[in-house]
Amino acid sequence: MIMSQIITKVEFAKLVESIESHEGYERPFAFAIGIATCDRRGEVLEVYYPHPNCNANFGTAAVLASLTCHISGNETAILTLAQIESALGYFYPFCEEPGHINIQLLRSIKTAMDEKTLQGDQKIVATFLHKNKEGSLGPVTSVEDAYLRLQLLSHRLVKVNEINLDNLFQVLPNVAWTNLGPISLNELTSRQLEARLNGNWLHVYAVDKFPPMADYIVPSGVRIGDASRVRLGAYLGSGTTVMHEGFMNFNAGTTGPSMIEGRVSAGVEVGADTDFGGSFSTQGTLSGGGKTKIKIGERCLCGANAGTGISLGDDCVIEAGLYITPGMVVAVIDVHGKVVYETKARELSGKSGLTYRRNSQTGKLEALSKKNTIELNAILHKN
Ligand SMILES: CC(C)(COP(=O)(O)OP(=O)(O)OC[C@H]1O[C@@H](n2cnc3c(N)ncnc32)[C@H](O)[C@@H]1OP(=O)(O)O)[C@@H](O)C(=O)NCCC(=O)NCCS
Repeated sequence: MIMSQIITKVEFAKLVESIESHEGYERPFAFAIGIATCDRRGEVLEVYYPHPNCNANFGTAAVLASLTCHISGNETAILTLAQIESALGYFYPFCEEPGHINIQLLRSIKTAMDEKTLQGDQKIVATFLHKNKEGSLGPVTSVEDAYLRLQLLSHRLVKVNEINLDNLFQVLPNVAWTNLGPISLNELTSRQLEARLNGNWLHVYAVDKFPPMADYIVPSGVRIGDASRVRLGAYLGSGTTVMHEGFMNFNAGTTGPSMIEGRVSAGVEVGADTDFGGSFSTQGTLSGGGKTKIKIGERCLCGANAGTGISLGDDCVIEAGLYITPGMVVAVIDVHGKVVYETKARELSGKSGLTYRRNSQTGKLEALSKKNTIELNAILHKN
């Protein structure tokens, strides 16, 4: 039985107030209690945060911060059984109330610790993220920090491109994702042998910095044909279907119902009711010199085997098989079928109501306006 230090909610509120009034204390932008898997040297390979908190539950944050001597900055602390018991003591007035997800999580962890079902390579952590004076999270500082940022995205607590992910690749280790859990590449050979000698089979699903999102969170209202094609850090809006050939990178996503049979690159956001046809792709920014993050508007039809290096507004179509790059010359055609002007595709980036096609007779790239908006542009382009 845990001895409770706090009996009433008023006492709890006073405790939180006193913690928050400590000099330098800052409320975290995000925090979470996680279960980390480590290699045999104790290096963290990955962290599972069942319930990330973002701009919420500041009382819980204050208690965890106080127990782990955290004040501000992006930090992770290991939580001991004694600290978890103390925390549950402080949360006593809420213990019997439903809906306190952090308390429920701490109770489950305590049970696992008491019953010794937690594995030797697992540790319990509390991770805190704070915004700096510029309102940014700053670069990623650790594996624990990286996994919290990725899970904030996949839990839909932050949007695509909303938080800083600089340094992510430098921080994340390559991990073998296996049927026996994440394994350090340094230990893979010995673990394979060990498995065989014990009559087991160690199956490696992937060697990657990012695990599949679905092993951490399946957000509500989504369908995923092949879970390995959606990386942790993807943001899937409710109503999204990612078909077997579809791919969703980290920090890439959909804002609402969408059918994704193509590839959504890092940094790309796809609007609601948009359809990415089979093998449709967007030019990314991770390599190849691309700097512009592409956004696709709502109600767009992005044709099979097509692609784009420019953003689309709402209600756009890209013909199957047509790949638009920013420097291509496009003939803009009005609702009456007349060529209004020619321009570089990048000048049309983000514009709504355009159907892009390669004219099968002239070979010219055309942007057909569905609405009578192009004539306004014609005025602008008239010298
Ligand atoms: C671009 C696209 C949307 C046009 O489809 P549509 O609006 O149904 O147009 P249609 O094929 O009926 O053609 C309309 C007219 O434009 C003409 N046209 C169509 N594409 C043309 C082209 N590339 N060049 C010249 N003329 C073309 C047609 O000949 C037709 O002319 P008409 O009115 O004189 O008969 C369609 O071709 C396309 O690529 N859709 C994407 C489908 C897809 O990949 N879905 C993803 C599922 S995996």
